[in-house]
Amino acid sequence: MDITRSTVFVPGATSGIGLALALRLQARGSTVIVGGRRTALLDEIVAAHPGIDAVRIDTDDPDSIDTARREVLERHPALDAVVAMAGIMRPEDWTADDFLATAERTVVTNLLGPIRLAAAFLPHLRTRAGSGGSPAFVTVSSGLAHVPLAATPTYNATKAAIHRLSEGIRLQLEPAGVQVIEIVPPAVRTAIVPGHEENPVAMPLDEFTDEVVELLATRPDAHEILVDGVKFLRFAETSGAYDATVARLNATDAHAA
Ligand SMILES: NC(=O)c1ccc[n+]([C@@H]2O[C@H](COP(=O)([O-])OP(=O)(O)OC[C@H]3O[C@@H](n4cnc5c(N)ncnc54)[C@H](OP(=O)(O)O)[C@@H]3O)[C@@H](O)[C@H]2O)c1
Repeated sequence: MDITRSTVFVPGATSGIGLALALRLQARGSTVIVGGRRTALLDEIVAAHPGIDAVRIDTDDPDSIDTARREVLERHPALDAVVAMAGIMRPEDWTADDFLATAERTVVTNLLGPIRLAAAFLPHLRTRAGSGGSPAFVTVSSGLAHVPLAATPTYNATKAAIHRLSEGIRLQLEPAGVQVIEIVPPAVRTAIVPGHEENPVAMPLDEFTDEVVELLATRPDAHEILVDGVKFLRFAETSGAYDATVARLNATDAHAA
């Protein structure tokens, strides 16, 4: 992905990592469309950042994905990339009786959402590959795909699924000319869970996003975008430090998304 001249749709960019990434991609020269459910925030972003476009989308809702796809492609027929950023992180207690609703909702947003986005946008992205473009589908997993946080079993599982899904679809899509890039954040200070913006063990948002953009710029063919701060999780198992890393991650009350 060439971040200096791509047209990129980021569903899940009303706040946090998605917004920070969208603004940096625009600053590097790309055309950016931000998406999300909070339309007041979409309006604020458009007003504050001339040139940015916004489309309402609820990635839990197939009809909303379809409507957003039509809007995005009508206004940006040369769309090059979709970043499936939208995600939620909700604690669950599997020793109590009421975790099922949270678990189901987490699967819908974090796993079904990206799958539905891929189904909606890949026909267009494949066409772009056929006409000489460099299209990309970007997924967002987590360090917790590789080491579990006790508080969020279904979140961890959806992110592990996104990791493996990214690896699988890459095998099909890259021969068809569509790049699959997986961003693997460690804990980053956003509002994904209450208090997480002040989490001392999480990376500052600007620091994280600057490192991500630098990696995207300098390694445009990378399969995974791994900032230094996530490598202890990503490689815990292969480095032989898995048990110690699980213990270290869960030794603190701080959420490490
Ligand atoms: N922060 C971390 O520590 C961390 C670590 C690893 C991975 N991640 C991943 O990074 C991604 C972004 O999270 P964040 O930390 O930046 O949190 P955030 O600030 O809460 O952002 C989440 C974004 O997802 C959007 N979203 C959620 N559900 C949606 C839905 N049904 N339809 C459309 N948009 C939806 C939200 O927009 P609306 O509410 O406006 O819809 C918001 O823009 C997530 O996938 C998360 O799992 C975060």
